[in-house]
This record gives sequence, structure tokens and C-alpha cells, in this order.
Amino acid sequence: MPRRFIVWPDGRAAMRHSEVLIDRAFEIGATDPRLFGAFVEHLGRSVYGGIYEPGHKTADPAGYRQDVLALIRELGPTIVRYPGGNFVSGYNWEDGVGPVAQRPRRLDLAWMSAEPNSFGTNEFIDWCRLAGIEPMLAVNLGTRGAEAAGRLVEYCNHPAGTAMSDLRRSHGWEQPHAVKFWCLGNEMDAPWQIGAKTADEYGRLATEAAKVMRWVDPTVELAACGSCGRNMPNFGRWEDVVLEHCFDEVEWISLHTYLNDYAGDTAAFLASADTVDHFIEEVIAVADSVAARRRSRKRIKLSLDEWNVWYRTRRPRATRVKPGWPVAPDILQEIYTMKDALAFGGMVIALLNHADRVRAACLAQLVNVLAPIMTETGGPAWRQTIFWPFAHMTRFGRGTVLRALVHCETYSAVYHDPLGPVDVPVELPAVSYLKLAAVHDDGGVTLFMLNRDLEGPIRMQATLRGFGPLRVADALTLHDADLEAINHRDAPDRIRPVALDGVEQNADGLRVLLPPASWSVIRLVALPRG
Ligand code: AHR
Repeated sequence: MPRRFIVWPDGRAAMRHSEVLIDRAFEIGATDPRLFGAFVEHLGRSVYGGIYEPGHKTADPAGYRQDVLALIRELGPTIVRYPGGNFVSGYNWEDGVGPVAQRPRRLDLAWMSAEPNSFGTNEFIDWCRLAGIEPMLAVNLGTRGAEAAGRLVEYCNHPAGTAMSDLRRSHGWEQPHAVKFWCLGNEMDAPWQIGAKTADEYGRLATEAAKVMRWVDPTVELAACGSCGRNMPNFGRWEDVVLEHCFDEVEWISLHTYLNDYAGDTAAFLASADTVDHFIEEVIAVADSVAARRRSRKRIKLSLDEWNVWYRTRRPRATRVKPGWPVAPDILQEIYTMKDALAFGGMVIALLNHADRVRAACLAQLVNVLAPIMTETGGPAWRQTIFWPFAHMTRFGRGTVLRALVHCETYSAVYHDPLGPVDVPVELPAVSYLKLAAVHDDGGVTLFMLNRDLEGPIRMQATLRGFGPLRVADALTLHDADLEAINHRDAPDRIRPVALDGVEQNADGLRVLLPPASWSVIRLVALPRG
């Protein structure tokens, strides 16, 4: 397709123009409902003061905040990972079950906090049921192993008549929890992980834990830990060795990624969403090479079970750890700006465009900690800027993702990815100003668009082929002249989607003007033929 630019008669700067072709037949794959997941860790105020705050004026008798639940329902996560994260690698699940008064208070060495254990597995499952969310549980493969993991599966999923299942029943949960999705540890390659392991050590342990867990309940699905980041020195080799050990035992491999703007280079920050595409494609390549060595047609699914933007509360240790072993300290309370929401939207598009292999993903996290939802203990709850692209994905992203052909000018950027205190430069020589995903369902088609041009709008012509007559039902955009603008307690709606004006339907499809530095969503619904 030729590139076209609009030149004003007086010769003023040309407007950027993009041509997009979306054909109903070019399918990537259907989005799995588990693509729209999130994460609740025992970390900071995620649980205590977040989803759970007995005594709060909106709390139900069990202590679950209903104002938070209402926002979560609006956000729309489908599956939630628990209880960590780094926390799980030192966690004894037995501490969090049984009479609350008898539960021990422990030092949490992951976040240098005190853990009262008043919220544990059963409370989490009850909360999931209330919220209509599937639970995803992680087992501790840092300080513990196959036996403790197997017993937790027995406690949760075995009906009755054994020590662990009867223990659950004696705690008041007669029916099994039927948890299907289990993570075999967390970030076991990371030096900061309690009980970090080499790839061979972890691969062996994951294999043995998986065997035991599946013997207890043959219906479970198991996810091995992949690399905690694409910039880890061992990335690729780690996945290769781990899967060489446990390929036959697991269905999933995890990957984690957090984008940053430490450099204060907004163009590079928005470009960095493309590294999520690269990361996903590289993990697929390694997983499929393990399959190829075995002449196996089995395809390991990807679980991007931690993804988000994270930098302001990442590097200074004081933003991650408070002295004195506090309970639920206000750590990792990242305040998200307009530009963070744009980078986040780019990640949403990357996820959607790999829906054939990324079958599960968890926004890390859900409330207060790196979160789309913030609360004040004893006070209100509100939406952060990143709430919106995620809510758009859960609302409009169900269906079949189509491979859109996007022609747009590109720019080059150097993104800096942190590895400990060191910045690792990542060259991105051809970043399309327009990043786009298209999702088709029985009712119509939805376009998700990120305009990464900070200076000007993009005039987009989208040709829509094979859909029949369509009508624009929703056209929304998130943008603000101030890319540092935030939502906060007293201005909770400073950043929120507004109507996207100037959407024109024409013979080929659609003509749209995407504002500079914007996230936009257009929903087209099918009209009856004839
Ligand atoms: O989400 C915060 C932390 O980031 C998680 O505990 C850990 O798995 C990752 O490093």
C-alpha cells in the first residue's frame, strides 16, 4: 500500500497518514478469557487495605471491600494470581488456613514486612467466587518443594477422606476449591528470589513438583517459571534448560515484563511496548525448539503472568522496603501518568496480537501495588490512568484477533531496560507511530490504536474487508496535553476516556484522526445485510 501524507495548501507540516488493512479471514487466534488476568500478592497494601479491610465502611461481614470489588468488576479481570510473586517463595501455605487467631505472624523476607496471615488461601478463594474470577495459585518452590505443593493441591482440590481434604473441611470449606491453574514457583531465575535456583535445579524441582501435583489432581494445568525478564543474562538458555526437564509435565511457561521510563524519553518509552512482542516471540521460538528436538507437536502456552509499567517505585530501595517490619506498608504504590497509560496500551496491543500463544496474562498487580485501582485505608477507592486500556481490553477484546496490516511511518529509539543498577540499551530502529490490534466477534470488530507521535495526529484510513455492513457503536480516546497528568483521590477522573470525534465511515471502511500521544478504541457493530 502506498504511504500518503496530507500537505496543507500553505505548505505547513504534513500530517502523518496511515493505511491499515483488516481482513476478516486473516485470523491470529481467539483470545482466551485468561488473557485478561490480574495479580494479588501479599505485598504492601494489595491485600490488607486493598481487597480486604475489615471495618471499612463498605466491607462485607468477611472484610471484603465492596467499593474495590465494584471497581474490579468494572475493570473486568477474569483470573487472578495469588499469593505471589516474590512472597510465595518464602510462604508456608499452612500459615494462612485454619482459625485466624491461631495463625502465626511471620517475617516476610521478600518485602521485609510482617505477615499476619489473617488472609489466606480460603479467603482468597471466597473473594474470587464473590468477584466471579478464576483463581490462579502459585506454590512455593523457593524454600519448599514437591511435598508441600502436593499437599496444597490436596487441601484445595481433593473432595474428602484424606488428611488435607478433611483439614479444609474442618476449616469450614466442605466443597473442594477446584483450582485448575497452578504456577510452579515464581521467578526462580532471579537473584532476589528466596531460594533462587539454576535452570537445572529448577527444571528438576518443577518436574517433580508437577508430577506430584498432577498425581493428586490429574485435571490441574501447570506453568513453569520462565525468565523474570528479557534482559536477564540467562534468558533463552533458562527456558531451554527448564523446558528440557519439564516439557512433558507442564502446559505453560511464564514470562514477566515491566516497562519503564527512567530515561525520561517518552518516545522510547512508548516504543518499548514493541519489546513485549519481541519477548513473546523469542519465548515461543525457544519453547518450539524444545518441541522440535522431541519431534513433538505439543505447543507450550505462554502465561505472561506479570506485566505492567513499573519504575518510580522500583529502584530506590526505600520505595520497596520500609524499616521496622511493618504490616502492609505503602510500598510499590506507583502513581500512573497519562504517558504510562499509553505505554500500557501498547502492551495491551502486543498481548492481543499474540493471542494464539499467549493464552493467559496477569496485569501486575490489581489494587494499590502497581495497580489500576488505588485505595485509601478507611477512605475511597479510585481508578488510575492504566485502568482504562485494561478495561477496554476486557470489554472489547473477546473474540478472534485479526492480523492487521499497518503501514505507517516509523521512528528509531533506544530504550533502556534496567538490570540491577545498570541500564541495558535496547535499540528499536523502526517503531511504527501507529500500533494497532483488531478483534472480531459475532457482533462486529473492535480496533485498539496507540498513536505514538507525540507532536501530531495520525490520519488513519482503515480498509475493512469481509465484514459486511458495519456501524460505529463506540469511539473512545484517552489523551491529554499533559503527559504527566494523573488521577488521584481528589481528582479521580482527571484522565478518563472521552468520545473520539471525527470518525468517518466511507466505502472502504473508516477514516479517523487519532490525537497525538493517544490510546483509542473504535467498536464497529455488524448491521443486518440486505
Ligand atoms: O509484582 C512485583 C514483583 O515483581 C513480584 O513479586 C515479582 O515476581 C516481580 O519481580
